[in-house]
Amino acid sequence: MGTGGPATVRVGLAGLGRFGKLHASVLAALPGVELAAVCDPAESEVAAVAARHAVKGRYPSLDAMLAAEPLDACFLVTPEPLHAAQALTVLERRIALFVEKPLAMTVAEGEVVLAAADRAEVPLQVGFLLRFETRHALLKAEIAAGRFGPLVSLRAKRNVSRAWFPAYGDRAHPVYETSIHDIDLLLWYAANPCTAVYAVERNHARLTYPDACWAMLQFANGAVGIVETSWFVPAGAPANVITPDWHGTIDSELEVVGTDCSGRIRLLDGGLAVWQPELAAHPETSLWPESGGSIGGALREQDHHFIDRVRDGSASLIADAADALSGLRVAAAIVESARTGAEVRLAA
Ligand SMILES: NC(=O)c1ccc[n+]([C@@H]2O[C@H](COP(=O)([O-])OP(=O)(O)OC[C@H]3O[C@@H](n4cnc5c(N)ncnc54)[C@H](O)[C@@H]3O)[C@@H](O)[C@H]2O)c1
Repeated sequence: MGTGGPATVRVGLAGLGRFGKLHASVLAALPGVELAAVCDPAESEVAAVAARHAVKGRYPSLDAMLAAEPLDACFLVTPEPLHAAQALTVLERRIALFVEKPLAMTVAEGEVVLAAADRAEVPLQVGFLLRFETRHALLKAEIAAGRFGPLVSLRAKRNVSRAWFPAYGDRAHPVYETSIHDIDLLLWYAANPCTAVYAVERNHARLTYPDACWAMLQFANGAVGIVETSWFVPAGAPANVITPDWHGTIDSELEVVGTDCSGRIRLLDGGLAVWQPELAAHPETSLWPESGGSIGGALREQDHHFIDRVRDGSASLIADAADALSGLRVAAAIVESARTGAEVRLAA
């Protein structure tokens, strides 16, 4: 699709769980977008989301939706292990694709998806919404302008609610669930390939995947990174994720040290606190805040940016799909290092 794409972009959305419902609210309110169809094997979710946003197309599967609906773009907000195969199904039909993170669960699958998007000549974007969050974007601009000097270290923590782990602990290694955001940010800020990884993981809950993982990354320019995640934030911690379907805490911090400047971002310090009898609410105001009945923040910016790419047919200059593949390479190295206890070297 070249410049002068459709005046109204017809979008289909697959996956109507915690995050799919947020995308649905954003897409239903974006100007020039028709949320034309939704699908999910959970019939009740399809009925509820379709009724809330007056969506006409309601389907039990991606295949049924794609067979029946002429779509300009498709959003995949499905469980992580489904992404690669579903992405290929969408791209084979030459439909522009937004896929939530991670792009895929293996590097080989990620490469196949990128090649399919190239063949289809349609935009492909992966859900790294922190690139669209104001503080993270401003920090990137400062670093890119050279004000930090050579980077010395980058440290990212993403600890999340213990109560969320049962939903994910048998689904994907936490590196693909939480740390993939920070791997992406560190690669973006370092603007350099990661050349070596050493990682350690722990499994306290005894589900399929570990519930804590720490990784040290070395970059080609000499910068050193730390990416850490665990799923042990207790229920009594201030809640910053407060949606009708999803409730708990993302305790994330990021610090970048250069020879001339250092910068930091702390998610829990948003500035808004509402202490209720049973809950210390610190509602997050930058990622997907709801006000006046619609969702704004980074999620809206990201989805809007992708829709613009669908309209003009160009690749995203903010969230390049090739970067998502680089992130997958680092994620795979972290999993391998944590499994073997040995450093894993990556080709620069
Ligand atoms: N960017 C972020 O900050 C962020 C935050 C949360 C989740 N996510 C991502 O969003 C995606 C979904 O996560 P979630 O937390 O909403 O999970 P979820 O389990 O709450 O929802 C997944 C939904 O997909 C549906 N589904 C299962 N198989 C399907 C199929 N074959 N076709 C269509 N739908 C199917 C399920 O019925 C469910 O409703 C994941 O990739 C996750 O990593 C991203």
